[in-house]
Amino acid sequence: MTWIDLGDPLPRPIPERYDPLEWEVGEICPLPSFLGTLDRPFSEVLDARVSHREFGFVDDHQLGALLWLACRTRGVGASDLGFDLEHRASPSAGAIHPIHIVVKRPGDDRWWLYEPRAHQLVELRQATGKLAGLHELSLQVLKGDEATRILFLAEPAKTLGKYQDGCSLVWRDAGALLAVMALTATAQGLNFCPLGITGEPWASALADQGKLAGVGLALLGSAAGA
Ligand SMILES: Cc1cc2nc3c(=O)[nH]c(=O)nc-3n(C[C@H](O)[C@H](O)[C@H](O)COP(=O)(O)O)c2cc1C
Repeated sequence: MTWIDLGDPLPRPIPERYDPLEWEVGEICPLPSFLGTLDRPFSEVLDARVSHREFGFVDDHQLGALLWLACRTRGVGASDLGFDLEHRASPSAGAIHPIHIVVKRPGDDRWWLYEPRAHQLVELRQATGKLAGLHELSLQVLKGDEATRILFLAEPAKTLGKYQDGCSLVWRDAGALLAVMALTATAQGLNFCPLGITGEPWASALADQGKLAGVGLALLGSAAGA
């Protein structure tokens, strides 16, 4: 067995400023806000969470509620890193949130980047072709024609600007986010299943070399019709 040592993160004495990626985007799809409450008690949600592997369609209200609760930016703070720090439901090393959520809805070949401040999806230009192989692989891992496929896409330089040897922080952020999303889906009565594939080598091809890295996928669907 080989354990790959990712090193021990240490804050850099002087952070390296980083200009976040500028995406080539197409259509914009605003999502409905979720202003109500989920009635299921949290203790029940914790006891109920399991991975479900059958998926019906989720509509934009259900997807919007999941992203609103689990992923949206609730507050921002200034920093000297080249971008703002953020508060979201999931904890993140340094409040940096280096992981983007990219979704592919059933019946739509396009992949959409979630913008957590504006609570909207933006179409990622050229992603259909670049992620075609990943879509195919994810179908081999877990079928589900009606599933919404979620790619966890890291922009590691955000975290590595503040921490040397910070790669493990990005992976731990991915796990934290996965758990928050799985519990949120359970609270909504939706089906959710993580996938072990990372999204590589396709995910990183969405930008210049080294800027992006796939750190996992998940499938989301409704229980009804599954
Ligand atoms: C990082 C990670 C990767 C996983 N990869 C897969 C996968 O590729 N396919 C799958 O069917 N389930 C996958 N799962 C789900 C696990 O199999 C599941 O969590 C485990 O069997 C425990 O079941 P439970 O989630 O219902 O408690 C993954 C879970 C995690 C956390």
